[in-house]
Formats: sequence, C-alpha cells, structure tokens
Amino acid sequence: MPHTAPLPNLTQAEVVLLHREAAAVAQNSYSPYSRFRVGAALLLQPSATVPPDTIVSGANVENASYRLTTCAEQAAIAAAVARFGPAIRIRAVAVANLNNAACMPCGACRQTIAEFAPPEAPIFYPAANGETVAATLAQLLPAAFSLHSK
Ligand code: THU
Repeated sequence: MPHTAPLPNLTQAEVVLLHREAAAVAQNSYSPYSRFRVGAALLLQPSATVPPDTIVSGANVENASYRLTTCAEQAAIAAAVARFGPAIRIRAVAVANLNNAACMPCGACRQTIAEFAPPEAPIFYPAANGETVAATLAQLLPAAFSLHSK
C-alpha cells in the first residue's frame, strides 16, 4: 500500500505529532516476554468534552499468561475512554515500535479501532522497509463486523 493514501482533514503537523507520541509512549511498554515495544497514539475528534488536537496514547502491556497481553492500540483506546467517556471518536491512529520492525495493527485491534473510528480514518504504521504506511481503517478491515450491518 502506498504511503500516499488520503488523509482526510489531517495536517502534516498533526501526523508528525501523532508519530512522535506513538514512539514516545513505546518507551513505557511492558514487554518482558516479546521485548517488542509498541506505542499507539490516537488523534481524537474534538467535541464539547474533547479539546482540539487531543492525542491519547498507550503502550503494550504483556502478561506471564501470554494471551492476556494488551496491545498498544487497545491500551490507548481504553485510556481515551477512561479520560473522555464513551462518546469519543478517533480521527487517526499512529503505531510505532522501538524494534525497527514492521508493525501493523493486529486483527483484534482493527476491530477495536472500528468501534470508535470511521472507515476513512487513516492508520499509520511502520512497514518492513522502514517506511510509514498510511492505510484507511476500511482498507485494513474490510467488511468489519458491526451490530448495524445489514
Ligand atoms: N503488539 C501491539 O501492541 N500492537 C500491534 O500493533 C502489534 C503487536 C504487541 C503485542 C505484544 O505485546 C507484542 O507486540 C508482540 O506481539
């Protein structure tokens, strides 16, 4: 996928800030098992309760019972809901890792993002060649499950 996917209403400054936050929070990753340190940053839609340019971030949190691991994207979403409530909407997501590896959101995270983001929301993640890929949620999760699907 090209890194020139459409960026609805996003400035370059917002994209840069989002990346910076994702990389910064990855420093706080709790990943003693995989040693794969991931950070995710969400740019939230402003509202009556969410100030403009609000970014909420999260890091992956692993567990000795491996399947209890929380991905960075899910941690960020949980933090955003805890801080601003259940009506949050996500404008864009950036994922980073400190391992210089490709890191696209896993299937579970794509579905979790879909709960709070429109299909056209851009998601930025590192590709194997080191470049950042921008894909829309719809590209990453076509035919997403929704209770409103017909
Ligand atoms: N991980 C994330 O936090 N987000 C992703 O997008 C991919 C994978 C975490 C889960 C686990 O702690 C580690 O990376 C290795 O899979």
